[in-house]
Amino acid sequence: MRLFDQEDNYFGIDLGSNSIKLAQVRELHGSPSLITYGDIETPANMLSSDSEIDQNRIADLIKQLADDARVTSKNVVAGLPASATYTSVIKVPKLKDAELAQSIRFQADKYIPMAIDQVKLDWLVVGEDEENDEQEVLLVAAPISTATKYLNILQKAGFELLALEINPLAQARSLISQKDPDHCVVILDMGVNNTDLSVIDKGVPRLVRSISVGARTFRRMISQNLGVDDTQADQFMKKFGMMEGKLDNQVVRSMKPLVDNLIEETKKSVSFYQEKSNDRKVERVIITGGTTALPELPMYLANNIGLTVEIGNPWQNVSYPSEIQQQLAGLALNYATALGLALRNFV
Ligand SMILES: Nc1ncnc2c1ncn2[C@@H]1O[C@H](COP(=O)(O)OP(=O)(O)OP(=O)(O)O)[C@@H](O)[C@H]1O
Ligand SMILES: [Mg+2]
Repeated sequence: MRLFDQEDNYFGIDLGSNSIKLAQVRELHGSPSLITYGDIETPANMLSSDSEIDQNRIADLIKQLADDARVTSKNVVAGLPASATYTSVIKVPKLKDAELAQSIRFQADKYIPMAIDQVKLDWLVVGEDEENDEQEVLLVAAPISTATKYLNILQKAGFELLALEINPLAQARSLISQKDPDHCVVILDMGVNNTDLSVIDKGVPRLVRSISVGARTFRRMISQNLGVDDTQADQFMKKFGMMEGKLDNQVVRSMKPLVDNLIEETKKSVSFYQEKSNDRKVERVIITGGTTALPELPMYLANNIGLTVEIGNPWQNVSYPSEIQQQLAGLALNYATALGLALRNFV
């Protein structure tokens, strides 16, 4: 298993805290065509659990999901959330593959703020700096414990894990039009516990971080401020979101400091990247993840983030039967990662 790999026949799987999603594509007349997709709810707190029983439960769910979706491969590529990885683009002298591997391993502890003997390390050459005779390398580190857990779960489900890939790389493939891929954008993936932020420049995640704002943090704040239980808080969050004039503005007032924090962090990351990369300009923000479905949240982000905000469409780079167009449109927020993983041989 590698963090980056090539294999013809496989499907992509996104193990999310709220739901597990899968997608598979195949080549049709030289371009990707959707074969199947599907999702299944993840029982609360199960993904973060290290207990064997919970991991068996997840494996059973994956088996059921893959059966229902009738995937045609035993091979799978899985995504890793930004919160579970450390990603950086580094510059190293131009070297042959073997020498490069040695050089990166040797220097890795300089770049990665984790104990090197406890991480799985992989890299991809993403650019060249002709002037200085250097190359740019995307370095990804994931705790061995996380990689092993994913491997075990998928093995128990009866699949071979070909590779683990960081979610932002997958999302870049599905959310950026491959007809015109050289843009510089921010992707915000708003999930349950976190929002994963990535600056994607020419298809490559150049800055990746995780911000602890998500559906669960909203719910907790609503529950505290309104004195209601989690279920009620969840209902209020989904019904009112950032809408003004509802329940004496108690819901929007609970969520606002968290959303404002996310906006501030996004602005900081944009400025940081623009300064670091000299002349590159972040053009827009693409939002994805189920949490962006909260009422008025996209509008609030659009009005305050200082950049154009657009809701990501992960289906733009694949062909599919026109009869399922409506169905896919309804799932757009949830499939950016799974589909991007499925597209890794095409983009
Ligand atoms: N289409 C939707 N409409 C409204 N809410 C949604 C929708 N899809 C998901 N949600 C809600 O959005 C939140 C995050 O959903 P999402 O599917 O992005 O989570 P996940 O990918 O499983 O989690 P994570 O990425 O954090 O591991 C959940 O609270 C979920 O209930
Ligand atoms: Mg997710």
